[in-house]
Amino acid sequence: MRSSELKSYENISIIESIKAKPFLKWAGGKTQLLDELDSRLPSHIKTSRIIDRYVEPFVGGGAFFFFLKRNYFVKESFLYDSNRELIVGYKAIQNNVYDLIFELEKIENKYLKMSDAERKKYYYQIRDEYNRQQATFNYENYNGSWIKKAAYLIFLNRTCFNGLFRQNKKGEFNVPFGRYKKPGICNKENLLEVHEALKNTEIFSMDFEESKKVIQKDTFVYLDPPYRPLNQTSNFTSYDKDGFTEQDQIRLANFFRQMDRNGAFLILSNSDPKNEDANDDFFDLLYAGYKIERVNAKRSINSDAEKRGSISELIIRNYE
Ligand SMILES: C[S@@+](CC[C@H](N)C(=O)[O-])C[C@H]1O[C@@H](n2cnc3c(N)ncnc32)[C@H](O)[C@@H]1O
Repeated sequence: MRSSELKSYENISIIESIKAKPFLKWAGGKTQLLDELDSRLPSHIKTSRIIDRYVEPFVGGGAFFFFLKRNYFVKESFLYDSNRELIVGYKAIQNNVYDLIFELEKIENKYLKMSDAERKKYYYQIRDEYNRQQATFNYENYNGSWIKKAAYLIFLNRTCFNGLFRQNKKGEFNVPFGRYKKPGICNKENLLEVHEALKNTEIFSMDFEESKKVIQKDTFVYLDPPYRPLNQTSNFTSYDKDGFTEQDQIRLANFFRQMDRNGAFLILSNSDPKNEDANDDFFDLLYAGYKIERVNAKRSINSDAEKRGSISELIIRNYE
């Protein structure tokens, strides 16, 4: 067998061995858009099934990142998100997955034996402790205390109402208790898979613009910024205490243009303001000159349950 053939067999076995899925339910998660994104990958990636360098500046729950790891051979990845709590979770899985599993199993065993009232009390105890820690927590340097914080993050995400991570202006996690019969708090198998998927990956709790440092010619970049609010009353507009303003959307479009000039392959998704107002050309103007498409997607996060359903989503690319 020629060495090039051997290499491609090696790649296939690596792809087949990764089964990781997002370890958190995350607002704006892109599971429903995976096929649309997959069918729009650059043609050299579709043919070779290899991605040399992958950058995701708004990783969130990482639905697309894990999808790529399951289906392609991704040589190296760089993930960014401004949410520090989320990055604590990723790094604990990357560095100390067995200790994290141990913590989560302890919590799960205790929690599942409790009555409803006890569970509720315990949930608010952990939520309070989690929020109290924020003022003094060392987010800069990874250390053992990140493991417990990551365990609390996963526990809260699994047991809170609707399974969402939402913070108030003070940065406090403020989602109420959710009633589930048997919540899966410790998914050991998937945590180990995520640990595998995070090999050859660097993770940063930073603003998206910092990713400029690792975006080179031919780097593949997926951008999934927080949605621009669909309407004035839509109250689900911010993913963390800082929010993402219209000014940030403009800053992102400038970043897109700059990375395009550097020769990167860029694909971006966003909410389509035309769902609400057919004359709203905000993104059409910002991304004029690029390939702009509208696809159908199910939006699951809406304060008004009746408005959940199929709406169109924008996918913008700088390549054919
Ligand atoms: C739409 S979500 C991404 C969802 C992700 N694609 C998924 O599948 O879960 C947007 C993410 O951007 C992050 N974010 C907000 N402002 C940011 C900024 N200035 N720089 C980097 N990330 C930011 C939020 O914390 C949130 O996780």
